[in-house]
Amino acid sequence: MDSTILKQLEGYQSVVNDIEVLQRYGYNYRLDRGLVKQYVEQLHPHSLDVKVIDIIDETPSTKTVRLSSRKKYLPPFQAGQYISVTVSIDGIRTTRPYSISSSPDQIAFYDITVRRVEGGFVSHYLCDKLAIGDSLQISASSGNFYYNPIIHSNKLVFIAGGSGVTPFKSMIQHAINTGTEREMWLIYGSKNPDELIFNEYFASASKKYPFFKYIPVCEEGESRYKGYITASIIKDAVGDSSNKTFFMCGPQTMYEHMLKELQPLQLKPKQIKMEMYGVPTDIFSQTGWPKEISKDTTFTIKVRGKKDIRVQAGETLLQSLEKNGIIVPSLCRSGECSLCRVKLVSGNVYQPEGVKIRQADRRFGYIHSCASFPISDCEIIL
Ligand SMILES: Cc1cc2nc3c(=O)[nH]c(=O)nc-3n(C[C@H](O)[C@H](O)[C@H](O)COP(=O)(O)OP(=O)(O)OC[C@H]3O[C@@H](n4cnc5c(N)ncnc54)[C@H](O)[C@@H]3O)c2cc1C
Ligand code: FES
Repeated sequence: MDSTILKQLEGYQSVVNDIEVLQRYGYNYRLDRGLVKQYVEQLHPHSLDVKVIDIIDETPSTKTVRLSSRKKYLPPFQAGQYISVTVSIDGIRTTRPYSISSSPDQIAFYDITVRRVEGGFVSHYLCDKLAIGDSLQISASSGNFYYNPIIHSNKLVFIAGGSGVTPFKSMIQHAINTGTEREMWLIYGSKNPDELIFNEYFASASKKYPFFKYIPVCEEGESRYKGYITASIIKDAVGDSSNKTFFMCGPQTMYEHMLKELQPLQLKPKQIKMEMYGVPTDIFSQTGWPKEISKDTTFTIKVRGKKDIRVQAGETLLQSLEKNGIIVPSLCRSGECSLCRVKLVSGNVYQPEGVKIRQADRRFGYIHSCASFPISDCEIIL
């Protein structure tokens, strides 16, 4: 910066005076240059090299992968946050977000708990191919799905579906380990009792700690509540909901169901916090999807400065780019973090309901490639 401009900055002279005083007492402030950057990088590194130190079977379809840092240091995180895991499978480099399921009161390791998804790509690799001793690259923790004592009530209702229970395991374990006697209810929907992840942990914690209630709801098999989570189950389990904050996490299909079920409870918007595990699984049945476009339809995407690629309808732009070896940075893969933004120069994409785009992005034609499905030939700029 030009030194004449520097001198006009507010506080400039007081900094010069402080430096003079420090130098008089023999302190060389120049040694500390870059210290702030070092701290920021330690607390929030761009990426981390981690080693798989254990793999734990949780249910027939779910495993916990325990990760420790290759540099003996993992940054702190908030219970409920996720990390993004980068993998290369069959020549395709891609990422997937996974909530940290271990508690932040210890950071010797992070646990992620992964359920094998039917027709899935990365979940199968993590559950079936990964071995103890393997290396992975992960991002620093991210996301804002965590308890904030300033905003949220200290009576918390956690509604989970399937693998969506993982952030709650971290939050509940953290509250228990740190002796925070916050009232918590976990209403956990699962296909059957065998697929309830961390079932033993939650069941024994609810017996030991009166401030924690565990309410499994199973579609099949033996359980007190059967079928899907409904407004009446919630009312029965938690009573008055007006003084509670609701956290909800699970696959996209669960939201559509739950948002309807929560209506009779008349919650205020600020009482509900949600984490969506990805974009809709069946995009062809979404409202507004053009009926004439089927799975067999293909389009050409012109990527300015790179090769043209052929893409299949129903795939996100990000998936198609990765399949063609074009890397776009990504974290949440659900239209939240904005990291995967690209500029749409021409053509049309379908964006599922609920995907947030900043006004400025909309104005200048930016889209989230992780939550945009091409519905015509397009041209984009990375
Ligand atoms: C913030 C965040 C945190 C997450 N945390 C976890 C976690 O702790 N544990 C975990 O197991 N997963 C978690 N996920 C989901 C995870 O990132 C992957 O989407 C999931 O593992 C599937 O990846 P895949 O590559 O196997 O499937 P893909 O190849 O991406 O998808 C294959 C098919 O499965 C569908 N699909 C993708 N995800 C799901 C799902 N969750 N349920 C049903 N169908 C799906 C896709 O739409 C597609 O049709 C999280 C997602 C987000 C956004
Ligand atoms: S990766 Fe976060 S918005 Fe696309």
